[in-house]
Amino acid sequence: MTAKPAIAIIYASVHHGNTRKLAETLAAELSADLFSVDEAKAIRAEQYDLIGLGSGVYFGRHHESLRSLVNSWHQQHFVFLFSTAGLPFLRWFQHASLRRCVSRKRCQVVAEFCCQGWDTVGPLWLMGGINRRHPNTKDLDRAKEFAKRLKASFSAS
Ligand SMILES: Cc1cc2nc3c(=O)[nH]c(=O)nc-3n(C[C@H](O)[C@H](O)[C@H](O)COP(=O)(O)O)c2cc1C
Repeated sequence: MTAKPAIAIIYASVHHGNTRKLAETLAAELSADLFSVDEAKAIRAEQYDLIGLGSGVYFGRHHESLRSLVNSWHQQHFVFLFSTAGLPFLRWFQHASLRRCVSRKRCQVVAEFCCQGWDTVGPLWLMGGINRRHPNTKDLDRAKEFAKRLKASFSAS
């Protein structure tokens, strides 16, 4: 691919805005158009070469609205997945539901990223939650590195 790829980033962030911070960082690094999942219903997905989909992880999966959006697609897309989570080391499992959904649409997942997000679900709220102040600068720096690698590999393909 020679021309600069057109990239959209679509996110849902309903708990503390953790994933919105991550999505904004990725969008800035990738010069991507940024949409909430509601805004994304109105865009023409086919005008983008690459689409990033991300949310917090809720009960082991991405937000349901992202799966609904993907199910409404009529064309194949290159996709990357991202998330913030209380337990980011479970990324492979926690991304599985959206990964499957994307694959069923014959779209290709080219990369995935997850980092810690402040989590006060249920009784965690009583102790101020886990991963307080995440995503932090270090998490967002890792996200920038991920975006740089993604941009380089996608532009070269
Ligand atoms: C209802 C609910 C369920 C959650 N379930 C999980 C989970 O299964 N695994 C996990 O790692 N984190 C879980 N979390 C933590 C969120 O993934 C984490 O706080 C994330 O950063 C929230 O992103 P957001 O602020 O963008 O919504 C849950 C949070 C909530 C509110």
